[in-house]
Amino acid sequence: MPNAYISGTGFFVPDNVVTNDDLRDVYGIETSDEWIRKRTGIAERRFAPQGMGTADMGAKAAEMAIEAAGIDKKDLGMIILATLSPDHVFPGSGVLVQRQLGMADTGNFVPCLDVRNQCSGFLYALGTAASMVQSGNTNHVLVIGSETHSHALDLSSRGRTVASLFGDGAGAVVVSATEEDRGLRNYTLGADGRFAETLWQPMWDIRNFPFLPQDEDGNGIVAPEMMWASMDGRQVFRNAVEKMITSLMKVCWEEKVDTKDIDLFLFHQANLRINEYVQKQLNIPDDKVFNNIMRYGNTTAGTIPILMAEAEREGILKPGMKVGLAAFGSGFTWGAALLDW
Ligand code: UT7
Repeated sequence: MPNAYISGTGFFVPDNVVTNDDLRDVYGIETSDEWIRKRTGIAERRFAPQGMGTADMGAKAAEMAIEAAGIDKKDLGMIILATLSPDHVFPGSGVLVQRQLGMADTGNFVPCLDVRNQCSGFLYALGTAASMVQSGNTNHVLVIGSETHSHALDLSSRGRTVASLFGDGAGAVVVSATEEDRGLRNYTLGADGRFAETLWQPMWDIRNFPFLPQDEDGNGIVAPEMMWASMDGRQVFRNAVEKMITSLMKVCWEEKVDTKDIDLFLFHQANLRINEYVQKQLNIPDDKVFNNIMRYGNTTAGTIPILMAEAEREGILKPGMKVGLAAFGSGFTWGAALLDW
């Protein structure tokens, strides 16, 4: 059975930088730089312009990852795209990325799978990609985490708790087969559907007939509480810390690796305080953790692949390193992974 390793990384974030002060001054949200920095560590995030969406950013990150992997698009055997902000209800954004990469035009009709596991989406996608590679189904899987949050945030004082956290961006990796002794060593994934409504954006309820109420002209009506994401932040915070720690410990235990032996931790970027708490509980020194939430906010499925791509380019993530990943988010869903880079 071949090993599955990450052969290339890439990322894309839109040019438009939105600072915490901009949320107040441009969007009129009653908030402050001090509140957001102190509670979350976020200083700024990126917002995609009108006309740019999840597949657009995903395709840009993918191009960079494919080039870094040193392969051609025709070598890819599958695309897996993780997102909570797909371009449309259906079809998924994976097929849109495939189209943008021009693969179908050259007869490369690779399967495209959308993963809907929010902040843990990249880890779910990574695990699936590794299984496809290790089973011998294909040699290269493109894995993308891409999010367009800003177009679906309640950018008003009413929505400030959620709106101040999220940003737009995409990260991508190529997961490839290798006979070398490296790659994804272990991963764990979990979910607890009892908390499905603790962090959610229902938009509609398909149990209703019709699924959306209509006005007399036939337009669908979406009530604000259905339209915008809502969250019990404290509940999410508590569970995130617990599940990130226990899942990291599980993969370490199974691999007989001490957390002290891990060279670099790349955690999901939801709140700097969550990561600092995890770091403290596991006694991890500062120089072994790479965070970028201060610059991008929470890009959900995009956070870990963006971190990987930046860390590689900044020389923080190097071949031979032992890397620990952990994420937690809506669902609840969570996961952790251990890689030899
Ligand atoms: O990937 C998973 C995604 N989500 C998370 O991981 C989120 C985890 N949770 C958190 O990060 C924190 O719960 C938050 C940062 C979201 C909120 O921090 P908190 O300490 O739990 O604040 P809170 O929601 O209890 O609100 C405290 C106060 C409230 O005012 P009152 O009622 O005490 O007067 C809020 O209205 O802070 C107010 N507040 C704000 N004030 C200024 C909430 N958001 C803001 C804001 N600016 N943006």
